[in-house]
Formats: sequence, structure tokens, C-alpha cells
Amino acid sequence: MTVTIEKLIDLLNMDLKLEYSAAIQYINHAAVMTGAAYGDIIKELKIHTNEEIQHAMILADQIDYLGGSPSVKVGEIHTSKGNDEMLQQDLDGEEDAIQRYKLRVEQAELLKEFALAQQLRTILAMEQEHAMDLKQALGK
Ligand SMILES: [Fe+2]
Ligand SMILES: [Fe+2]
Repeated sequence: MTVTIEKLIDLLNMDLKLEYSAAIQYINHAAVMTGAAYGDIIKELKIHTNEEIQHAMILADQIDYLGGSPSVKVGEIHTSKGNDEMLQQDLDGEEDAIQRYKLRVEQAELLKEFALAQQLRTILAMEQEHAMDLKQALGK
């Protein structure tokens, strides 16, 4: 695996766009989701929203530190009228994020960007918690 700092900045900007879209998607899903059985997960979705915003702030700072321009674009957002379909859309997003951040930690370490790698590990651990919350709510 080879990666340049320019390539890593591009990839981090893709991650940043997807953090913005994850936050917006969680705001939407938490608002639209209904039913007493979903009360706990609706609270979790609101917590996830704030954590995705934190991830976006970390990534924007790191991209700037590396000499890049943090993106203000937003990635794709998935919506549904079905509670479980929304939760599955959220889980798909988290699983994609987990794969991306695992790779991103390796890429940061290859470039000896160890502080970035540490930040990405923290984000990765939080995405894994998000995925676990969603799996539990889906009975998986
Ligand atoms: Fe995130
Ligand atoms: Fe997440």
C-alpha cells in the first residue's frame, strides 16, 4: 500500500463529507422515528449526531494541519419512512466508516503521521460503538 500526503488529504476530505452527511442523516432519523419501543435508540441517534460533528471538527483540523483545505461538501444522505430501514441505513454507514477508518489509520502510520493516526483510532472506536448500538436496536 502506498499513499502520499496529497492522497491522504483527499481521502480525509471524503471522510469529512461523510461525517457531515452522517450527522444530518441522524438528525433526520431521530426526528422521523416513532414508537415507544424506539425511545432508547432515538436518544442514542441524537448522541451519535453530536459525535459525528465532533469527528468532522477533528478531521477538518487535521486536514488543515496537513496543508489541505477542509471540504464543506456533504455526502449522500439516506432517508426512509420505516424505523428499521432507517436503522439499517445508519448501520450501513457505520460499517462503511469502520472500514474506511481502519485503512486510514494504516495510511497515516505509513506516512508517520502518528498524532493523526491516534485521532483516527479514537474515531474508529466511536464508530464501532455506534454500530453496536444500531445492531442491538435491530436485534442483530
Ligand atoms: Fe463519525
Ligand atoms: Fe458513527
